[in-house]
Amino acid sequence: MCGIIGVVGRGEVQSSLLDALKRMEYRGYDSAGICVRNSGFLTCRKEAGKLFNLEQSLAKSPLAGSAGIGHTRWATHGIPSRENAHPHLGAGVAVVHNGIIENHESLRKKLIADGVNFQSETDSEVIPLLLSTELGAAEFGTVEMAEAWQCTVEQLEGTYAIVALRAKGDDCLWFARRGSPLLLGRGAAGVYAASDALALAGLADEVLYLEDGDIGCISLSNVEIHQHGAQVERCWQSMPVSEQSSGKAGFDHFMQKEIFEQPRVIADILNAYVQGVDITFPEASLLDDAVLPNRIVMVACGTSYHAALTARYWLERYLQVSVEVDVASEYRYRNPVIGPDTWLITLSQSGETADTLEALRLFKSNTPDNLALTLCNVPESSLARESDGTIPLLAGVEVGVASTKAYTAQLAVLALLVLKIAYECRVMSEADTKRHLAAMRQVVDGMHVLLGHADQVQALTPLFDDIHGALFLGRGPCFPLALEGALKLKEISYLHAEGYAAGEMKHGPIALIDSRLPVVVLAARKYHLQKVLSNLREVQARGAKVILLTDMADQDIPDNVDAVIPLPEGDSFTTPLFAAIPLQFLAYYVARSRGTDVDQPRNLAKSVTVE
Ligand code: M6R
Repeated sequence: MCGIIGVVGRGEVQSSLLDALKRMEYRGYDSAGICVRNSGFLTCRKEAGKLFNLEQSLAKSPLAGSAGIGHTRWATHGIPSRENAHPHLGAGVAVVHNGIIENHESLRKKLIADGVNFQSETDSEVIPLLLSTELGAAEFGTVEMAEAWQCTVEQLEGTYAIVALRAKGDDCLWFARRGSPLLLGRGAAGVYAASDALALAGLADEVLYLEDGDIGCISLSNVEIHQHGAQVERCWQSMPVSEQSSGKAGFDHFMQKEIFEQPRVIADILNAYVQGVDITFPEASLLDDAVLPNRIVMVACGTSYHAALTARYWLERYLQVSVEVDVASEYRYRNPVIGPDTWLITLSQSGETADTLEALRLFKSNTPDNLALTLCNVPESSLARESDGTIPLLAGVEVGVASTKAYTAQLAVLALLVLKIAYECRVMSEADTKRHLAAMRQVVDGMHVLLGHADQVQALTPLFDDIHGALFLGRGPCFPLALEGALKLKEISYLHAEGYAAGEMKHGPIALIDSRLPVVVLAARKYHLQKVLSNLREVQARGAKVILLTDMADQDIPDNVDAVIPLPEGDSFTTPLFAAIPLQFLAYYVARSRGTDVDQPRNLAKSVTVE
């Protein structure tokens, strides 16, 4: 979702603004703009569409100046257009905003009644117009600006990360954060405010994560942060993202690179968390000697939700604990009955997903004594900071909007979590724990083998020509895999796809089946194989083309299947990790064959920071 950058530099800032915006392209956007200050004047340049359009325009006529703000906009209020793109201007001020100003209608009406003109349809434009109204026409100094800034922000309801720049009066970036991510940075060439650390790779050496409710300003010589009217100190920490981690490393797409990184990610997870039969999560040591709770609630969105669904099978089977899994956007509004002796586990790649964060807050405010754990790929994120314990996913920066390596990292960490609790609570023997851990170690090699089958999967793309949809079927832990396979295909190829529990197929989707509905069947020896094969035959009997992902021996594979993708033989924890790779390849190659924007698919955002 929207990406924000602000720079006060020791030299020209246009190229830093553009660099940072490029690094935030992965968040998803549909227009972009920058505003630069020069000799007491603010000049904006904005374009609809990709950043390329803005770059072209700036190449023809650059903007000079040593302070500026920039923005990639993911449209919420108003179409993607130059007028609606940020930054937005008031008299002598420019503002970029991520979030939603829920009371923008009433603020807009009030401003219009006072004679103020709006240029856009956005909710965000009320911010600079309120600010310039608070400031009046005069060129006040920093003290008056601090009051006007505070007064403006206090009138806003909803969620926001905001950075404002003045034409005259001070050399500061003015910021405020509530509900949307925002951090500050400093480096040799300047000071910064940005939506994420990746934006500042190569620019900042240190970063400071703002807390919800923080408001203040940063200049080359000073940073001031206030919370509830009082000045607060926050910690600077070393920049967590290196420049190297953000490149494509010779791959055509980030998604492709990230698919190939998966064996390394799994190896890193095993090296970091497993020593012999001991599984230790350093940042969640509160799990050591844990007593099994009465109930575990898992809440997440999208792909992270699918990982949670798979873990439910493992938790129930090995721990015999009652598990509830929900999408965060439903959980937070359905008045869930939480009760004592319940753990919450949230899962998130970004750690900034608005609904997941609110679900955590709801859980903690209802039952502060219950444990809230998160499995998150960004240990500095809001979700990680607000949870009682974090297990980092160790997947490294994931840039492709379609989540791949963070998903398999979630599955691997969840498997280790189940094994750890099962062993410590003495519901799994040492021998069984060792056997499962040995199987987990096989995943690295097995994934390498599967990555070697990329061409074989690519050869299947013609099966997805001229279709009216695709169906993915699985049972047990492979059912969430079917959901994930369908989501991947939808996201990046824009084909309609549905994942279904294979046993549910007869209750509706079977009506869709014909020769133009390819069906991907996930059939694992460990999960109800014969029942899945019956479903496969029912699909074949109705003329569908079938792609079978299976770890069955060759001689057992049913006849007349249109394509078979062999999986290494897995145990109950590892099959989902294996099956993920061909599903990701399938989506990737079908998307490529259709010429879509694989890394930044239309309408999607990497980090969904508004609900
Ligand atoms: O950062 P999160 O894991 O919380 O994000 C959740 C979803 O937005 C995310 O998984 C989304 O579904 C991806 N585009 C999936 O590829």
